[in-house]
Amino acid sequence: MPQIDLNHLSATLAKLDSIQAIGRVCAVEQGVLQISGLHSHARHGDQVRITLKSGRELTGEVLKLEAGRLFALPEGTPEGVSLGDPVTLEEPAALSPCDAWIGRVIDPTGRPLDGRPLKRGDLSCQIKAAPVPASERALLGARLATGKAVFDTMLPVVEGQRIGLFAGSGVGKSSLLAHFAKHLEADVVVLALIGERGRELAEFVQHSLGEEGMRRTVIVTATSDQSPLMRRRCAWAAAAVAEHFRDQGKHVLFLADSLTRFAEAHREVAAATGELPTMRGYPPSLSHMLMALCERAGPGRVGSGAITAVFTVLVAGSDMDEPVADILRGVLDGHCVLDRDIAERGRYPAIDLLKSISRSLPRAANEEENTLIERARALLSTYEKAEIMINAGLYEKGRNSDLDAAVTVWEELDQFIAADVTQGIQASFNKLKLIIRKAQAAARVEAPAVRDARRLAPLARLPE
Ligand SMILES: Nc1ncnc2c1ncn2[C@@H]1O[C@H](COP(=O)(O)OP(=O)(O)OP(=O)(O)O)[C@@H](O)[C@H]1O
Ligand SMILES: [Mg+2]
Repeated sequence: MPQIDLNHLSATLAKLDSIQAIGRVCAVEQGVLQISGLHSHARHGDQVRITLKSGRELTGEVLKLEAGRLFALPEGTPEGVSLGDPVTLEEPAALSPCDAWIGRVIDPTGRPLDGRPLKRGDLSCQIKAAPVPASERALLGARLATGKAVFDTMLPVVEGQRIGLFAGSGVGKSSLLAHFAKHLEADVVVLALIGERGRELAEFVQHSLGEEGMRRTVIVTATSDQSPLMRRRCAWAAAAVAEHFRDQGKHVLFLADSLTRFAEAHREVAAATGELPTMRGYPPSLSHMLMALCERAGPGRVGSGAITAVFTVLVAGSDMDEPVADILRGVLDGHCVLDRDIAERGRYPAIDLLKSISRSLPRAANEEENTLIERARALLSTYEKAEIMINAGLYEKGRNSDLDAAVTVWEELDQFIAADVTQGIQASFNKLKLIIRKAQAAARVEAPAVRDARRLAPLARLPE
Protein backbone atom coordinates (compact mmCIF):
# COMPACT_ATOMS: atom_id res chain seq x y z
CA MET A 1 0.00 0.00 0.00
CA PRO A 2 1.45 3.46 -0.87
CA GLN A 3 2.67 5.53 2.09
CA ILE A 4 0.67 8.68 2.77
CA ASP A 5 2.55 11.69 4.14
CA LEU A 6 -0.06 12.83 6.67
CA ASN A 7 1.88 15.91 7.76
CA HIS A 8 2.12 17.17 4.20
CA LEU A 9 -1.53 16.35 3.59
CA SER A 10 -2.75 18.18 6.69
CA ALA A 11 -0.52 21.19 5.91
CA THR A 12 -2.04 21.37 2.42
CA LEU A 13 -5.57 20.98 3.77
CA ALA A 14 -4.97 23.72 6.37
CA LYS A 15 -4.21 26.15 3.56
CA LEU A 16 -7.50 25.51 1.79
CA ASP A 17 -10.29 27.99 2.24
CA SER A 18 -13.53 26.22 3.13
CA ILE A 19 -15.56 28.84 1.30
CA GLN A 20 -14.78 29.73 -2.27
CA ALA A 21 -16.19 33.04 -3.36
CA ILE A 22 -17.72 33.03 -6.83
CA GLY A 23 -18.18 36.23 -8.76
CA ARG A 24 -20.08 36.95 -11.97
CA VAL A 25 -19.20 38.82 -15.12
CA CYS A 26 -21.38 41.94 -15.07
CA ALA A 27 -19.96 43.83 -18.06
CA VAL A 28 -17.44 43.49 -20.87
CA GLU A 29 -16.09 46.80 -22.08
CA GLN A 30 -13.18 47.44 -24.44
CA GLY A 31 -11.69 44.05 -23.74
CA VAL A 32 -11.89 44.48 -19.95
CA LEU A 33 -14.19 42.32 -17.81
CA GLN A 34 -16.16 43.86 -14.96
CA ILE A 35 -16.89 41.33 -12.23
CA SER A 36 -19.24 41.57 -9.28
CA GLY A 37 -19.18 39.55 -6.07
CA LEU A 38 -15.40 39.27 -5.65
CA HIS A 39 -14.40 42.84 -4.86
CA SER A 40 -14.13 42.24 -1.11
CA HIS A 41 -11.99 39.09 -1.57
CA ALA A 42 -9.72 40.08 -4.43
CA ARG A 43 -6.49 42.02 -4.30
CA HIS A 44 -4.91 44.11 -7.03
CA GLY A 45 -2.83 41.79 -9.22
CA ASP A 46 -4.70 38.60 -8.27
CA GLN A 47 -5.52 36.04 -10.93
CA VAL A 48 -9.13 35.21 -11.87
CA ARG A 49 -10.57 32.24 -13.76
CA ILE A 50 -13.73 32.69 -15.83
CA THR A 51 -15.74 29.66 -16.95
CA LEU A 52 -17.54 30.38 -20.21
CA LYS A 53 -20.90 28.87 -21.17
CA SER A 54 -19.05 26.79 -23.77
CA GLY A 55 -17.03 25.21 -20.95
CA ARG A 56 -13.85 27.01 -22.06
CA GLU A 57 -11.88 28.66 -19.28
CA LEU A 58 -10.28 32.06 -19.47
CA THR A 59 -7.77 33.46 -16.99
CA GLY A 60 -7.14 37.12 -16.26
CA GLU A 61 -5.57 39.57 -13.85
CA VAL A 62 -7.24 42.04 -11.49
CA LEU A 63 -6.13 45.49 -12.55
CA LYS A 64 -8.60 47.78 -10.82
CA LEU A 65 -10.90 47.54 -7.78
CA GLU A 66 -13.98 49.63 -7.08
CA ALA A 67 -16.77 49.41 -4.54
CA GLY A 68 -19.12 46.72 -5.85
CA ARG A 69 -16.96 45.43 -8.75
CA LEU A 70 -13.51 44.70 -10.00
CA PHE A 71 -11.92 45.05 -13.43
CA ALA A 72 -9.90 42.19 -14.89
CA LEU A 73 -7.97 41.98 -18.12
CA PRO A 74 -8.35 38.52 -19.69
CA GLU A 75 -5.33 36.67 -21.03
CA GLY A 76 -6.99 35.98 -24.36
CA THR A 77 -9.71 37.81 -26.26
CA PRO A 78 -12.96 38.06 -24.29
CA GLU A 79 -14.84 36.48 -27.20
CA GLY A 80 -17.50 34.09 -25.92
CA VAL A 81 -17.76 35.67 -22.45
CA SER A 82 -21.35 36.36 -21.43
CA LEU A 83 -22.98 38.19 -18.57
CA GLY A 84 -23.32 36.01 -15.49
CA ASP A 85 -20.36 33.74 -16.32
CA PRO A 86 -18.90 32.48 -13.02
CA VAL A 87 -15.50 33.79 -11.90
CA THR A 88 -13.21 32.39 -9.20
CA LEU A 89 -10.07 33.78 -7.62
CA GLU A 90 -6.76 31.98 -8.08
CA GLU A 91 -3.58 31.99 -6.04
CA PRO A 92 -1.25 34.90 -6.96
CA ALA A 93 1.16 33.97 -9.76
CA ALA A 94 4.04 31.95 -8.29
CA LEU A 95 6.70 29.54 -9.53
CA SER A 96 8.59 26.66 -7.92
CA PRO A 97 11.96 26.57 -9.66
CA CYS A 98 14.59 23.93 -8.95
CA ASP A 99 17.85 22.67 -10.46
CA ALA A 100 15.88 20.48 -12.89
CA TRP A 101 14.75 23.69 -14.65
CA ILE A 102 18.25 24.27 -15.99
CA GLY A 103 18.33 23.34 -19.68
CA ARG A 104 14.57 23.78 -20.02
CA VAL A 105 12.18 26.17 -21.76
CA ILE A 106 9.16 27.32 -19.77
CA ASP A 107 6.33 29.80 -20.14
CA PRO A 108 5.73 32.59 -17.60
CA THR A 109 3.38 30.39 -15.58
CA GLY A 110 6.05 27.71 -15.17
CA ARG A 111 4.66 25.27 -17.75
CA PRO A 112 7.27 23.41 -19.82
CA LEU A 113 7.29 24.28 -23.52
CA ASP A 114 9.64 21.55 -24.66
CA GLY A 115 7.17 18.70 -24.41
CA ARG A 116 8.78 17.00 -21.40
CA PRO A 117 7.45 16.89 -17.84
CA LEU A 118 8.96 19.48 -15.51
CA LYS A 119 9.87 18.82 -11.88
CA ARG A 120 8.80 21.49 -9.38
CA GLY A 121 10.86 22.68 -6.45
CA ASP A 122 9.67 22.50 -2.83
CA LEU A 123 9.43 26.25 -2.36
CA SER A 124 7.26 28.55 -4.36
CA CYS A 125 8.31 32.13 -5.08
CA GLN A 126 6.15 35.09 -6.03
CA ILE A 127 6.91 36.38 -9.49
CA LYS A 128 6.58 39.99 -8.32
CA ALA A 129 9.09 39.80 -5.50
CA ALA A 130 10.63 42.88 -3.89
CA PRO A 131 14.31 43.57 -4.59
CA VAL A 132 16.99 43.05 -1.93
CA PRO A 133 16.95 46.17 0.28
CA ALA A 134 19.75 48.54 -0.69
CA SER A 135 21.19 48.56 2.84
CA GLU A 136 21.63 44.77 2.80
CA ARG A 137 23.22 44.45 -0.61
CA ALA A 138 26.80 43.39 -1.16
CA LEU A 139 29.02 45.54 -3.40
CA LEU A 140 29.62 44.81 -7.07
CA GLY A 141 31.87 41.78 -7.45
CA ALA A 142 34.82 40.73 -9.57
CA ARG A 143 35.33 41.44 -13.26
CA LEU A 144 33.93 38.72 -15.51
CA ALA A 145 35.47 37.16 -18.58
CA THR A 146 33.08 37.78 -21.46
CA GLY A 147 34.66 36.13 -24.48
CA LYS A 148 34.83 39.54 -26.25
CA ALA A 149 37.97 41.67 -26.04
CA VAL A 150 36.02 44.91 -25.78
CA PHE A 151 33.93 43.79 -22.77
CA ASP A 152 37.02 42.35 -21.07
CA THR A 153 38.75 45.73 -21.29
CA MET A 154 37.02 48.96 -22.29
CA LEU A 155 33.46 48.06 -21.25
CA PRO A 156 34.02 45.71 -18.32
CA VAL A 157 31.17 43.68 -16.82
CA VAL A 158 31.48 42.87 -13.13
CA GLU A 159 29.46 40.44 -11.03
CA GLY A 160 26.15 42.09 -10.10
CA GLN A 161 26.35 44.78 -12.80
CA ARG A 162 23.31 45.57 -14.95
CA ILE A 163 23.92 46.74 -18.48
CA GLY A 164 21.72 47.59 -21.44
CA LEU A 165 22.30 46.88 -25.13
CA PHE A 166 20.71 49.76 -27.02
CA ALA A 167 20.14 49.63 -30.78
CA GLY A 168 17.68 49.99 -33.61
CA SER A 169 16.05 46.94 -35.14
CA GLY A 170 18.27 44.33 -36.76
CA VAL A 171 21.58 45.78 -35.56
CA GLY A 172 22.63 42.69 -33.60
CA LYS A 173 21.19 42.97 -30.05
CA SER A 174 19.92 39.39 -29.86
CA SER A 175 23.12 38.01 -31.39
CA LEU A 176 25.25 39.77 -28.78
CA LEU A 177 22.92 38.61 -26.04
CA ALA A 178 23.30 35.04 -27.29
CA HIS A 179 27.07 35.47 -27.14
CA PHE A 180 26.78 36.47 -23.47
CA ALA A 181 24.50 33.51 -22.76
CA LYS A 182 27.19 31.21 -24.07
CA HIS A 183 30.41 32.86 -23.00
CA LEU A 184 29.94 35.24 -20.07
CA GLU A 185 31.21 33.74 -16.82
CA ALA A 186 28.21 32.56 -14.72
CA ASP A 187 26.87 29.49 -12.90
CA VAL A 188 23.35 29.69 -14.33
CA VAL A 189 21.86 31.76 -17.17
CA VAL A 190 18.19 32.83 -17.10
CA LEU A 191 17.03 34.16 -20.45
CA ALA A 192 13.72 35.97 -20.81
CA LEU A 193 12.47 36.18 -24.40
CA ILE A 194 9.76 38.81 -24.13
CA GLY A 195 7.44 39.52 -27.03
CA GLU A 196 9.97 38.42 -29.63
CA ARG A 197 9.09 36.52 -32.79
CA GLY A 198 8.07 32.87 -32.34
CA ARG A 199 10.83 31.60 -34.62
CA GLU A 200 13.47 33.29 -32.45
CA LEU A 201 12.92 30.79 -29.65
CA ALA A 202 13.95 27.81 -31.79
CA GLU A 203 16.83 29.84 -33.23
CA PHE A 204 18.08 30.69 -29.76
CA VAL A 205 17.80 27.14 -28.47
CA GLN A 206 19.22 25.35 -31.51
CA HIS A 207 21.67 27.76 -33.11
CA SER A 208 22.66 30.62 -30.79
CA LEU A 209 22.94 28.60 -27.58
CA GLY A 210 23.22 25.06 -28.85
CA GLU A 211 23.52 22.10 -26.52
CA GLU A 212 26.49 23.58 -24.72
CA GLY A 213 24.78 26.90 -23.94
CA MET A 214 21.47 25.25 -22.95
CA ARG A 215 23.29 23.12 -20.39
CA ARG A 216 23.42 26.11 -18.02
CA THR A 217 20.35 28.03 -19.21
CA VAL A 218 16.69 28.36 -18.26
CA ILE A 219 14.60 30.10 -20.93
CA VAL A 220 11.36 31.82 -19.98
CA THR A 221 9.40 32.95 -23.00
CA ALA A 222 6.22 34.70 -24.09
CA THR A 223 6.19 35.46 -27.80
CA SER A 224 4.70 38.48 -29.52
CA ASP A 225 1.37 36.73 -30.21
CA GLN A 226 0.69 36.25 -26.50
CA SER A 227 -1.37 38.58 -24.32
CA PRO A 228 0.27 41.70 -22.89
CA LEU A 229 -0.28 40.21 -19.40
CA MET A 230 1.74 37.15 -20.34
CA ARG A 231 4.50 39.17 -22.01
CA ARG A 232 4.81 41.42 -18.95
CA ARG A 233 4.78 38.42 -16.64
CA CYS A 234 7.58 36.81 -18.65
CA ALA A 235 10.10 39.35 -17.34
CA TRP A 236 8.90 38.95 -13.74
CA ALA A 237 8.89 35.15 -13.93
CA ALA A 238 12.44 35.11 -15.30
CA ALA A 239 13.53 37.49 -12.53
CA ALA A 240 11.96 35.11 -9.96
CA VAL A 241 13.85 32.14 -11.42
CA ALA A 242 17.09 34.17 -11.33
CA GLU A 243 16.42 35.13 -7.69
CA HIS A 244 15.86 31.48 -6.80
CA PHE A 245 19.34 30.51 -8.04
CA ARG A 246 20.90 33.65 -6.55
CA ASP A 247 19.51 32.71 -3.14
CA GLN A 248 21.26 29.36 -3.49
CA GLY A 249 24.55 31.25 -3.65
CA LYS A 250 24.95 31.03 -7.42
CA HIS A 251 26.13 33.72 -9.76
CA VAL A 252 23.26 34.15 -12.19
CA LEU A 253 23.36 35.85 -15.57
CA PHE A 254 19.90 37.31 -16.24
CA LEU A 255 19.32 38.22 -19.88
CA ALA A 256 16.16 39.84 -21.21
CA ASP A 257 15.30 40.39 -24.87
CA SER A 258 13.75 42.91 -24.90
CA LEU A 259 12.77 45.42 -22.22
CA THR A 260 11.14 47.52 -24.94
CA ARG A 261 8.64 44.70 -25.52
CA PHE A 262 8.11 44.51 -21.75
CA ALA A 263 7.41 48.26 -21.72
CA GLU A 264 5.02 47.91 -24.68
CA ALA A 265 3.16 45.11 -22.91
CA HIS A 266 2.85 47.31 -19.83
CA ARG A 267 1.56 50.15 -22.00
CA GLU A 268 -1.23 47.89 -23.31
CA VAL A 269 -2.16 46.77 -19.79
CA ALA A 270 -2.08 50.35 -18.48
CA ALA A 271 -4.29 51.53 -21.36
CA ALA A 272 -6.87 48.89 -20.38
CA THR A 273 -7.05 50.37 -16.87
CA GLY A 274 -7.54 53.86 -18.26
CA GLU A 275 -4.08 55.20 -17.31
CA LEU A 276 -3.29 58.20 -19.50
CA PRO A 277 -0.30 57.91 -21.83
CA THR A 278 1.76 60.96 -20.89
CA MET A 279 5.31 59.98 -21.92
CA ARG A 280 5.26 59.76 -25.73
CA GLY A 281 2.49 57.17 -25.60
CA TYR A 282 3.74 55.41 -22.46
CA PRO A 283 1.94 55.62 -19.08
CA PRO A 284 3.63 57.34 -16.11
CA SER A 285 3.77 54.01 -14.24
CA LEU A 286 6.35 52.78 -16.78
CA SER A 287 9.30 54.32 -14.90
CA HIS A 288 8.46 52.45 -11.73
CA MET A 289 7.82 49.21 -13.64
CA LEU A 290 11.22 49.32 -15.35
CA MET A 291 13.13 50.46 -12.28
CA ALA A 292 11.52 47.81 -10.06
CA LEU A 293 12.43 45.09 -12.56
CA CYS A 294 16.04 46.27 -12.94
CA GLU A 295 16.45 46.54 -9.16
CA ARG A 296 15.73 42.82 -8.82
CA ALA A 297 19.06 42.20 -10.52
CA GLY A 298 22.37 43.23 -8.98
CA PRO A 299 24.40 42.00 -6.03
CA GLY A 300 22.48 39.92 -3.51
CA ARG A 301 22.76 39.98 0.28
CA VAL A 302 26.27 39.62 1.64
CA GLY A 303 27.09 35.91 1.47
CA SER A 304 24.45 35.02 -1.12
CA GLY A 305 24.83 34.95 -4.90
CA ALA A 306 24.44 37.81 -7.37
CA ILE A 307 22.48 38.54 -10.52
CA THR A 308 24.41 40.11 -13.37
CA ALA A 309 21.98 41.39 -15.97
CA VAL A 310 22.06 42.30 -19.65
CA PHE A 311 18.89 43.79 -21.12
CA THR A 312 18.26 44.70 -24.74
CA VAL A 313 16.49 47.94 -25.60
CA LEU A 314 15.13 48.76 -29.03
CA VAL A 315 15.78 52.39 -29.88
CA ALA A 316 13.81 53.24 -32.99
CA GLY A 317 15.67 55.67 -35.24
CA SER A 318 18.61 55.70 -32.75
CA ASP A 319 16.55 58.01 -30.54
CA MET A 320 18.22 57.51 -27.18
CA ASP A 321 15.84 60.04 -25.62
CA GLU A 322 12.71 57.95 -26.16
CA PRO A 323 11.15 57.04 -22.77
CA VAL A 324 12.26 53.40 -22.39
CA ALA A 325 15.87 54.13 -23.39
CA ASP A 326 15.97 57.30 -21.33
CA ILE A 327 14.68 55.64 -18.14
CA LEU A 328 16.97 52.64 -18.50
CA ARG A 329 20.10 54.63 -19.23
CA GLY A 330 19.62 56.35 -15.89
CA VAL A 331 18.91 53.15 -13.96
CA LEU A 332 21.48 50.72 -15.35
CA ASP A 333 25.16 50.48 -14.45
CA GLY A 334 26.29 50.75 -18.04
CA HIS A 335 25.08 50.88 -21.59
CA CYS A 336 26.39 49.57 -24.84
CA VAL A 337 25.17 51.30 -27.99
CA LEU A 338 25.12 49.34 -31.24
CA ASP A 339 25.29 51.43 -34.39
CA ARG A 340 23.64 50.73 -37.71
CA ASP A 341 26.43 52.31 -39.79
CA ILE A 342 28.96 50.02 -38.13
CA ALA A 343 26.72 46.99 -38.73
CA GLU A 344 26.31 48.05 -42.36
CA ARG A 345 30.05 47.94 -42.92
CA GLY A 346 29.96 44.40 -41.48
CA ARG A 347 31.74 44.83 -38.15
CA TYR A 348 29.87 42.83 -35.48
CA PRO A 349 29.14 43.41 -32.68
CA ALA A 350 28.44 46.90 -34.02
CA ILE A 351 29.44 48.64 -30.78
CA ASP A 352 29.81 52.39 -30.88
CA LEU A 353 32.42 52.51 -28.16
CA LEU A 354 32.44 56.26 -27.70
CA LYS A 355 28.70 56.27 -26.96
CA SER A 356 28.97 53.28 -24.60
CA ILE A 357 30.04 53.32 -20.96
CA SER A 358 30.52 50.88 -18.12
CA ARG A 359 29.88 52.39 -14.72
CA SER A 360 32.03 49.75 -13.07
CA LEU A 361 35.02 51.79 -14.27
CA PRO A 362 37.40 53.07 -13.02
CA ARG A 363 37.10 50.77 -9.99
CA ALA A 364 36.99 47.57 -12.05
CA ALA A 365 40.45 48.15 -13.54
CA ASN A 366 43.88 48.97 -12.11
CA GLU A 367 45.80 52.16 -12.86
CA GLU A 368 47.67 50.80 -15.84
CA GLU A 369 44.51 49.27 -17.34
CA ASN A 370 42.62 52.54 -16.87
CA THR A 371 45.41 54.38 -18.66
CA LEU A 372 45.17 51.95 -21.57
CA ILE A 373 41.38 52.34 -21.74
CA GLU A 374 41.59 56.16 -21.63
CA ARG A 375 44.21 56.16 -24.37
CA ALA A 376 42.23 53.78 -26.59
CA ARG A 377 39.12 55.96 -26.21
CA ALA A 378 41.14 59.09 -26.97
CA LEU A 379 42.54 57.49 -30.14
CA LEU A 380 39.06 56.44 -31.32
CA SER A 381 37.69 59.89 -30.56
CA THR A 382 40.54 61.62 -32.39
CA TYR A 383 39.93 59.42 -35.43
CA GLU A 384 36.16 59.93 -35.35
CA LYS A 385 36.47 63.71 -35.22
CA ALA A 386 38.75 63.67 -38.27
CA GLU A 387 36.98 60.90 -40.17
CA ILE A 388 35.25 63.17 -42.69
CA MET A 389 38.53 64.92 -43.37
CA ILE A 390 40.37 61.60 -43.74
CA ASN A 391 37.75 60.22 -46.14
CA ALA A 392 37.91 63.43 -48.16
CA GLY A 393 41.65 62.92 -48.61
CA LEU A 394 42.56 66.00 -46.58
CA TYR A 395 44.60 64.20 -43.93
CA GLU A 396 48.31 64.79 -44.11
CA LYS A 397 50.74 62.71 -42.10
CA GLY A 398 53.08 64.51 -39.72
CA ARG A 399 50.91 67.52 -38.88
CA ASN A 400 49.31 66.23 -35.73
CA SER A 401 50.92 63.49 -33.67
CA ASP A 402 47.68 62.39 -32.00
CA LEU A 403 45.92 62.04 -35.34
CA ASP A 404 48.88 60.15 -36.82
CA ALA A 405 48.72 57.73 -33.91
CA ALA A 406 44.94 57.35 -34.30
CA VAL A 407 45.12 56.74 -38.05
CA THR A 408 47.90 54.18 -37.61
CA VAL A 409 46.00 51.98 -35.17
CA TRP A 410 42.36 52.71 -35.97
CA GLU A 411 41.84 49.56 -37.99
CA GLU A 412 43.43 47.40 -35.32
CA LEU A 413 41.36 49.06 -32.60
CA ASP A 414 38.24 48.57 -34.69
CA GLN A 415 39.00 44.87 -35.07
CA PHE A 416 39.88 44.63 -31.38
CA ILE A 417 36.34 45.81 -30.51
CA ALA A 418 34.90 42.88 -32.45
CA ALA A 419 37.49 40.29 -31.43
CA ASP A 420 36.61 37.06 -29.66
CA VAL A 421 38.97 36.01 -26.88
CA THR A 422 39.15 32.70 -25.14
CA GLN A 423 42.27 33.23 -23.03
CA GLY A 424 40.67 35.57 -20.48
CA ILE A 425 40.82 39.20 -19.42
CA GLN A 426 44.58 39.53 -19.12
CA ALA A 427 45.08 38.32 -22.69
CA SER A 428 42.65 41.01 -23.88
CA PHE A 429 44.56 43.73 -22.03
CA ASN A 430 47.85 42.46 -23.45
CA LYS A 431 46.39 42.78 -26.92
CA LEU A 432 45.21 46.32 -26.18
CA LYS A 433 48.61 47.22 -24.74
CA LEU A 434 50.31 46.21 -27.99
CA ILE A 435 47.97 48.47 -29.99
CA ILE A 436 48.58 51.43 -27.69
CA ARG A 437 52.35 50.92 -27.88
CA LYS A 438 52.09 50.94 -31.67
CA ALA A 439 50.16 54.22 -31.48
CA GLN A 440 52.79 55.62 -29.17
CA ALA A 441 55.55 54.66 -31.57
CA ALA A 442 53.65 56.15 -34.53
CA ALA A 443 53.29 59.44 -32.70
CA ARG A 444 57.03 59.50 -31.97
CA VAL A 445 58.16 58.62 -35.46
CA GLU A 446 55.75 60.56 -37.56
CA ALA A 447 55.50 63.86 -35.78
CA PRO A 448 58.38 64.40 -33.40
CA ALA A 449 58.23 68.15 -33.77
CA VAL A 450 54.64 68.49 -32.78
CA ARG A 451 54.43 65.69 -30.23
CA ASP A 452 52.32 66.69 -27.31
CA ALA A 453 54.49 65.50 -24.44
CA ARG A 454 51.88 66.38 -21.84
CA ARG A 455 49.15 64.18 -23.35
CA LEU A 456 51.43 61.22 -23.88
CA ALA A 457 52.98 61.47 -20.43
CA PRO A 458 50.78 58.79 -18.76
CA LEU A 459 51.89 56.26 -21.35
CA ALA A 460 55.47 56.59 -20.18
CA ARG A 461 54.36 54.79 -17.08
CA LEU A 462 53.38 51.65 -18.97
CA PRO A 463 55.89 48.91 -18.25
CA GLU A 464 57.89 47.77 -21.26
N1 LIG B 1 28.01 38.72 -34.88
C1 LIG B 1 27.40 38.80 -36.07
N2 LIG B 1 28.02 38.36 -37.17
C2 LIG B 1 27.42 38.45 -38.38
N3 LIG B 1 26.20 38.95 -38.58
C3 LIG B 1 25.54 39.39 -37.53
C4 LIG B 1 26.09 39.35 -36.20
N4 LIG B 1 25.20 39.87 -35.33
C5 LIG B 1 24.13 40.22 -36.08
N5 LIG B 1 24.32 39.95 -37.39
C6 LIG B 1 23.39 40.21 -38.51
O1 LIG B 1 22.38 41.10 -38.08
C7 LIG B 1 21.11 40.49 -38.19
C8 LIG B 1 20.22 40.92 -37.06
O2 LIG B 1 20.78 40.48 -35.83
P1 LIG B 1 19.90 40.36 -34.53
O3 LIG B 1 18.68 39.55 -34.77
O4 LIG B 1 20.81 39.95 -33.44
O5 LIG B 1 19.48 41.89 -34.37
P2 LIG B 1 18.44 42.53 -33.34
O6 LIG B 1 18.99 43.89 -33.04
O7 LIG B 1 18.20 41.62 -32.23
O8 LIG B 1 17.16 42.64 -34.26
P3 LIG B 1 15.64 42.93 -33.81
O9 LIG B 1 15.58 44.36 -33.42
O10 LIG B 1 14.87 42.65 -35.05
O11 LIG B 1 15.34 41.99 -32.68
C9 LIG B 1 21.40 39.00 -38.19
O12 LIG B 1 20.39 38.29 -38.84
C10 LIG B 1 22.71 38.95 -38.93
O13 LIG B 1 22.50 39.03 -40.31
MG1 LIG C 1 16.41 40.75 -31.54
